[in-house]
Amino acid sequence: MTDRPVLMFDSGIGGLTVLREARVLMPDRRFVYVADDAGFPYGDWEEEALRVRIVELFARLLEEHRPQIAVIPCNTASTLVLSDLRAAFPDTPFVGTVPAIKPAAERTRSGLVSVLATPGTVKRAYTRDLIQSFANECHVRLVGSQNLARMAEAYIRGRPLDDEAVLAEISPCFIEQEGKRTDIVVLACTHYPFLANVFRRLAPWPVDWLDPAEAIARRALSLVPAACVAEPGHEADVAIFTSGGADFLTRRLMQGFGLTVA
Ligand code: DGL
Repeated sequence: MTDRPVLMFDSGIGGLTVLREARVLMPDRRFVYVADDAGFPYGDWEEEALRVRIVELFARLLEEHRPQIAVIPCNTASTLVLSDLRAAFPDTPFVGTVPAIKPAAERTRSGLVSVLATPGTVKRAYTRDLIQSFANECHVRLVGSQNLARMAEAYIRGRPLDDEAVLAEISPCFIEQEGKRTDIVVLACTHYPFLANVFRRLAPWPVDWLDPAEAIARRALSLVPAACVAEPGHEADVAIFTSGGADFLTRRLMQGFGLTVA
């Protein structure tokens, strides 16, 4: 039972924003980070094909790594496939994420909230249901960004960003209406917190950029079995790329996060 890892799954490097929080809360756990880079970006996938892909991938991952818990911080995947994964693999506890619409609705003062996500997450029935259930009193604008996840992948590897291009992606989040302004933007894609400082610099006015990473890590902590701590001298935390390869910049990035590319 001991030393079974915490598995963390994302379409790319976005889940690292949650891994770093999870590490702080669970320093005695071993982590396996899986990036489905062969399927990246998830935002553009047709729903059924993506659902099948992720369930098949998990069948292999769970058999190979026998994790104590599987965390899927990726909004695009979670909003689509979490219930299928729970049904298909009832012995594994899953922690997912959904756009932080409820906390945003509780906090907004102007009543104008934007949700910045991938085109996939914006389209999901799940996301629309969240708005209906928790943000009925607010004006919620869904902004599906075509390019930000790719930009974050490049930026985090040290490549330059074009301010104009970033601004074009975030501009639709900012609404002024009847003397009120958007005051909260939900970062509903794991990749976006890596760009949060750029967003702050470019934003037409200051807003609260809501990042759910810590909340996801806390939820994971509440579900990990107490007995599953890693043994002293345990194997290093690893990163797995479904493409089977990682270039120099990616390896260097993973090293920075204390992950060895398997
Ligand atoms: N990281 C993903 C999310 O949280 C999606 C990025 C992508 O693959 O398009 O939604």
